[in-house]
Amino acid sequence: MTAMQRRPRRLRTGPAMRRLVREVRPQPAQLVLPVFVREGLTVSRPIDSLPGVSQHALETLPQVIEDAVEAGVGGVMLFAIPETRDATGSQACEPEGILNIAIECAVEAAAGRLVVMADLCLDEFTDHGHCGVLTDDGSVDNDATLELYARMGVAQARAGADVLGLSGMMDGQVAAVRAALDREGFIDTSILAYSAKYASAAYGPFREAVESQLDGDRKTYQMDPANRREGSVEANIDEAEGADFLMVKPALPYLDVLADVAAASAVPVAAYHVSGEYSQIEAAAERGWIDRRAAHVEAVTSIVRAGGDIVLTYAAIEVARWLKEDS
Ligand code: PBG
Repeated sequence: MTAMQRRPRRLRTGPAMRRLVREVRPQPAQLVLPVFVREGLTVSRPIDSLPGVSQHALETLPQVIEDAVEAGVGGVMLFAIPETRDATGSQACEPEGILNIAIECAVEAAAGRLVVMADLCLDEFTDHGHCGVLTDDGSVDNDATLELYARMGVAQARAGADVLGLSGMMDGQVAAVRAALDREGFIDTSILAYSAKYASAAYGPFREAVESQLDGDRKTYQMDPANRREGSVEANIDEAEGADFLMVKPALPYLDVLADVAAASAVPVAAYHVSGEYSQIEAAAERGWIDRRAAHVEAVTSIVRAGGDIVLTYAAIEVARWLKEDS
């Protein structure tokens, strides 16, 4: 028998060896928990298509923040569902609008122990459900939307948000919001640009979570799943416009894009393990077809391995606990 030259299995012989040679070690501090706050609720309301995730009331928000802090989670991303919607999403810019109040509440509860991020997009606030305002012919008006994003960004900064998550995929949105923030003196409010955001089937459960009014699709502003290079184009533009973080979304089906963006970016890169990705694990686990804990940890590990510095996941609190146990 000729001697085998290489035996990679030597480094897999037992838990201690595997722990020693592990290449990536995701940390709770890298995780961001998306949180939904619904105007008019006094108790939290479970979301059917997102098992384990609820719409929160302002009253129940502080406890979620406390749980996230306790688990060592790095941040929360706030989404809000207003009671009333209109064509221009006016509640988004109102200081008393539900998202802005939720930001104040979360910032107070967090007390500097985690980073408070807020979704900056109009889709939860418009009665047509699009991420921007519409022209007379029903198409999304990019440049008119930028003015509203700028106002919304200032309102969120005023409410105390640390990071604004620009998820609307309008061209020029980072520059527009940055300029408005600086003009109003909010020089320390950061921008997380959802740079490569694809028009994905995996947003289904999220649309239930925010009671989306959308009839149609977002394909004129979100990216075509077939396009890899375009992810880098979008990321480069956002970085040049002053984004403090970039994001790729969804995560697992787009690890190629994430790896490209992470390799070229000078700023931290986040990836969003979105609602449909989460729900696929939950649904299979419910049927006993998949190991829930292992699947969530593997998802986060793979995202970090591909280059993600920050991972948004609905399982953030549990994953944080599991990572601590496993370390
Ligand atoms: C839109 C927005 C969406 C998500 C985050 N921000 C939905 C969409 O583009 O339709 C999806 C997140 C998820 O699916 O978990 N502002």
